[in-house]
Amino acid sequence: MTTLEKIVSFAKRRGFIGPSSEMYGGFESSYDYGFLGAELKNNVKKAWWKSMVQLKENIVGLDSAILMSPKIWQASGHLTAGFADPLVECKKCHHRFRKDYLKENKCPDCGGELTEEKKFNLMMKTFIGPVEDEAAVTYLRAETCQGIYMNYEFIKDSMRLKIPFGIAQVGKAFRNEITPRYFIFKTREFEQMEMQYFVSPEEKEKDKWFEFWKEERMNWYLSLGIKKENLRFKEHEKDELAHYAKKAVDIEYKFPWGWGEIEGIHDRGDWDLSNHSKHSGKDLSYFDDSPSGERKKFIPHIIETSGGVERNFLAFLCDAYEEVEGGRTKTTEAAKETEVVLKFHKDLASIKIAVLPLLKNKKELVKKAREVYNLIKPHFMSQYDEAGTIGRRYRRQDEIGTPFAITIDFDSLKQDDLTIRDRDSMRQERVKIEKLVDYFCSLLK
Ligand code: GAP
Repeated sequence: MTTLEKIVSFAKRRGFIGPSSEMYGGFESSYDYGFLGAELKNNVKKAWWKSMVQLKENIVGLDSAILMSPKIWQASGHLTAGFADPLVECKKCHHRFRKDYLKENKCPDCGGELTEEKKFNLMMKTFIGPVEDEAAVTYLRAETCQGIYMNYEFIKDSMRLKIPFGIAQVGKAFRNEITPRYFIFKTREFEQMEMQYFVSPEEKEKDKWFEFWKEERMNWYLSLGIKKENLRFKEHEKDELAHYAKKAVDIEYKFPWGWGEIEGIHDRGDWDLSNHSKHSGKDLSYFDDSPSGERKKFIPHIIETSGGVERNFLAFLCDAYEEVEGGRTKTTEAAKETEVVLKFHKDLASIKIAVLPLLKNKKELVKKAREVYNLIKPHFMSQYDEAGTIGRRYRRQDEIGTPFAITIDFDSLKQDDLTIRDRDSMRQERVKIEKLVDYFCSLLK
């Protein structure tokens, strides 16, 4: 069985994710992404952006600031009890815990007595400028969508958008979580991929768009290869709803430790734009002047889709991870070892193509292989590798999820062709070098 420990050590060994600040003993809940991890993370974001912005006629993108006026967080309700978790402290060792995560009423670290529960606000406080007083306090954004509300009119008017329309954004968010846990699943710094869909109150009432986005987002995970049995919807009970939500459903993934939320679809009603209108004094009403519209003024309602980049990353990694006992590549000296294959969807794979000369001590093979590498690298993220037997090199690429490996052998020198090995079927196909870029364009773009 794949355990979280296995995933954590694999991610470190193969250069996907390592702990942050390691030479100073680490820093709780912070992680750094190595080359393969950074690529995978970028590919998750690219796939999301393509699906939510590029392929949608009425959704546009935005990149707003992390540091914003603290008045925003007052208006949004994040500075009040709505955005706080139950905190208890051990009277003996003074360790602090999230009350609802504890199984017993004693300190899990030393068995000491716990204090009464207090509400702990999750906003990450910081100071702006050289004076650290109350007037200089602001907060790192706790959700990226507040930047979308701030730019609602600017984007609507500059892009000439008519309701229903959406604004999408990817970016960092910060929460002072009491108990970060499960590796990159719950951290204090993370990235969100959020889209706010602005609709009329009448359309919202029919739940049409809520249902539409629920299905759309679930299908996105399926289209990127996550196994159906590892995904489910989980509707929030009334007492579980966030302070801004009228209705919410999570998309959950079956992680090694159990089901966990990777994305939420929320009906936020007119909570955000009404509150920002009220607190700022700026009327954010929308006037429907379309020929089919009723020439009415209203505050738009919002259906939100909000996914976490790191939680997506972890779900894609866990789902793609397969161990094959005894190995798949029977022709190599490593045949008896357990092999790892990451069966990533091609859009997510960090490296798309590996270029491998059959032997590294044959100058002509190396020269030809380098020519091929130079030919494809402007088009696809590729890697050249000549170290070790060809079997070992295939295994190394399977382990990081590279969908295709090219081998240049002696026939390549005579015929100007090469073999392309498919990661999953391990089938090999000979292709002419002059056709190579077109061949991969049809498979990878
Ligand atoms: N704007 C709505 C919003 O922020 P949320 O359910 O609080 O909703 C949305 O967060 C997504 O952000 C979650 O589904 C999760 O993927 C990600 N997320 C939230 N808190 C996180 C944390 N502490 N660490 C990692 N990801 C987190």
